[in-house]
Amino acid sequence: MADTRLAETATETRPSKTILRALAGERVDPPPVWLMRQAGRYLPQYRATRAQAGDFLSLCYNSELAAEVTLQPIRKYDFDASILFADILLLPQALGADLWFVTGEGPRLSTLSDAAGVAKLKPTEAIHEHLAPVYETVRILRRELPAHTTLIGFAGAPWTVATYMIAGRGTPDQGPAHAMREGDPAAFDALMARLTDATIEYLSAQIEAGAEVVKIFDSWAGSLVGAGREGAFEKYALEPARAITAALKARHPGIPVIAFPRQAGEHYVGFARATGADCVAIDNSVSADWAAREVQKDGCVQGNLDPRHMVTGGPALLEETRRIVRAFQGGPHIFNLGHGITPDADPDNVHRMLEAIRG
Ligand code: CP3
Repeated sequence: MADTRLAETATETRPSKTILRALAGERVDPPPVWLMRQAGRYLPQYRATRAQAGDFLSLCYNSELAAEVTLQPIRKYDFDASILFADILLLPQALGADLWFVTGEGPRLSTLSDAAGVAKLKPTEAIHEHLAPVYETVRILRRELPAHTTLIGFAGAPWTVATYMIAGRGTPDQGPAHAMREGDPAAFDALMARLTDATIEYLSAQIEAGAEVVKIFDSWAGSLVGAGREGAFEKYALEPARAITAALKARHPGIPVIAFPRQAGEHYVGFARATGADCVAIDNSVSADWAAREVQKDGCVQGNLDPRHMVTGGPALLEETRRIVRAFQGGPHIFNLGHGITPDADPDNVHRMLEAIRG
């Protein structure tokens, strides 16, 4: 077996499903690569399809067009993975929250601040009817993706989703969610329990529709860390990720899980072991050398190029890309950015980055 794998690695054509091999703990050379928000506004094709759909949410719920924008970066760059085109806020909408997007500003939701608000949420079983177009997007993608491209499904982590549901929008410090967590812990814990449960069902349905890996985005996990917040990260970031991962693996043995507790800092250490995740995605506030030493010892690490390099390009883009590849080359690694690619990124810089990785 080992010989076959070595032979495959050495062939000119990339072997199928490089991401699955890295997630299984194998060192893959060159590392597989995809980008967060790889289907997005930096691509003219995306902007055209979004205009055709009408608005962002209509695009998310139009399975054919959502599959089309998911495929655009695959055709252009042949990334090793494709991430389902949807949004983490579709789940709260399926649970009954009002949701809309203000152009140039971001999401708006009806707010929730107490036990009565939690009680009004729809039962978990009700989400599937609302999210059926997302599952259909997954089915289309499994038919249309190249054989060597891995399909990643995703959901927001309960804490991050809760921050949007409570504030009704993105906030710089997640203040309203912290206020509810501290001021009405019973209602807050009830909300977290509802979201954990619904996330398990949502991701499970994505897996049944054909997702081969799932990723849990905890974009605001970093605000659970710090003075006066002792224990908060474990309770509201680590424990839900553990519960979701355990439930998914019990139902779908072998399904790989990528966890992204963004800006977890030192809490990245041991996160995979404690949650059962197969891979920890890291942001660019930690160094690749540190993460290779402290995080990669537990398994696959994904990351962590600063997304600004996709805007600024030049020699620094190539140097940083190669430095990250080198830092992680002793173990399993999936190359990615530390956060999503931004609308002002130059699509040609993605080609330059890929050239630096793949040669
Ligand atoms: O390509 C992919 O990564 C897959 C699709 C995807 C989107 N959002 C599409 C999107 C994924 C995985 C997400 C996750 C998501 N959504 C997160 C977690 C990751 C992160 O970025 O921290 C969060 C916090 C959201 C909520 C959200 N959606 C916000 C705050 C915004 C507005 C900010 C922005 O970038 O405009 C969105 C909009 C959104 N989601 C866009 C896309 C392509 C831009 C919408 C547009 O076309 O105008």
